[in-house]
Amino acid sequence: MNGYLNESNFTMVEEGFTTRDLLENLLMELCPASDQQAFFVADLGDIVKKHLRFLKALPRVKPYFPVKCNGSDGVIRLLAELGAGFACTNKAEIAQVQSIGVPADKIFYSSPCKQVAHIKYAASHGVQLMTFDNEVELSKVARSHPHARMLLGIAADSSPSAHLSMTFGTTLKSCRHLLETAKEQAVEVVGISFHLGSCGLEPQAFAQSVAAAQLAFEMGTELGYRMRLLDIGGGFPGTEDTRTRFEEIAAMINSALDLYFPDGCGVEIVVRPGRYYVNSAFTFAASIAAMEEVPAEQPSFDGRWDGGTVGRWDGPARVPEPSPCSPQRGRLWREEEPYRPSRSSSLRGPPGQAEDRIADGLELPELQVGDWLIFEDMGAYTISTSSLLEGCPQPQITYAMSRVAWKAVQLFQGKPPQTEDDRESVCAPLSCGWEMAETLCVTPVFAPASII
Ligand SMILES: Cc1ncc(COP(=O)(O)O)c(C=O)c1O
Repeated sequence: MNGYLNESNFTMVEEGFTTRDLLENLLMELCPASDQQAFFVADLGDIVKKHLRFLKALPRVKPYFPVKCNGSDGVIRLLAELGAGFACTNKAEIAQVQSIGVPADKIFYSSPCKQVAHIKYAASHGVQLMTFDNEVELSKVARSHPHARMLLGIAADSSPSAHLSMTFGTTLKSCRHLLETAKEQAVEVVGISFHLGSCGLEPQAFAQSVAAAQLAFEMGTELGYRMRLLDIGGGFPGTEDTRTRFEEIAAMINSALDLYFPDGCGVEIVVRPGRYYVNSAFTFAASIAAMEEVPAEQPSFDGRWDGGTVGRWDGPARVPEPSPCSPQRGRLWREEEPYRPSRSSSLRGPPGQAEDRIADGLELPELQVGDWLIFEDMGAYTISTSSLLEGCPQPQITYAMSRVAWKAVQLFQGKPPQTEDDRESVCAPLSCGWEMAETLCVTPVFAPASII
């Protein structure tokens, strides 16, 4: 084992015992007068399964988990244990992953806009891989980080909808100029990066972007750069209820890679899947601390909601963030008894928080103070290590992993099962795909090397 994660970091459960069981046990243990605040339950085994599924679908691609998506200790430790790299957007995230021992060559400072102080921090802590997509960013790096290895960010998908959501990337037209400028400033460019945005991506968009990246690679090579790294960003679905399945997107990526960056061409491919890894692993529970009736004639501030009940919960004001990728559907714990009529319900965070609007117009059984609400698929962009949520207490996280998942982590690293019983339990052909761990144990397909 790599030593990032050990059995004291999580609750070991038997296979078949679900996160829901664990959460219900925790809720049942609470007495009515309990001051238990909102909390998460995280199934680390779900992340292990996602990782095995990832390796199977994209065998040539190395994942760099974006810490901003979920910087919780258990997630970072598990992914480090599994050999993933980390995409960090600032100094705090770099410091966090380095504090558990992740080496600098597994860290990618992926933010397109970097503060000079943070660039210097990366330089002094050995983090070399970074991105740029304009001259200002380039000259900041040229001045502050002599050993940086840069990826040029391109806005590769040319469809109008892509450009509307594009937060990052230069046009193909500007690539040559930026690569020449980098040359003048003696900045080393090692490859190309793109990120197509999150949610509802057409698999075709990846293929177009990989094709565009190849053109940019050629420009770099012509200018004398040793182009050797392609970063294809994030944006893979984190749950099964999306229009396009992960495997469909992966198949499109594999064919595009085979065409434009065939195996053996000397280019390493990396990816930054955030919600894919963590969304379905986390379940959130919050209790209703206060209630209010709103008459039907009083519209909410955006005019969309026409009355019902407003519940204030005890969790932070910004969790869960309603997201078009995974609309939050709360349900009442012990919904079935006793029967309560359904009401249009609105949820707010604790009083005194500037942004306290959680959700409007949810159809829920009539809420009462002390009720617990449960939200599934809550692992992505709900937990932050940054100052964004300062002053807002973060909910506790209870991590769980099944024994069989834990053994799969060990097998994955080439550690053989200790006993015959262990062997049978891990390698049984379970529907979840644990049998893949056995294959990986015999021939590890992913021995993360340094990226450059
Ligand atoms: C630049 C960049 N890369 C990667 C990601 C990860 O996206 P996702 O969580 O959808 O995989 C994001 C998310 O906002 C991002 O902005």
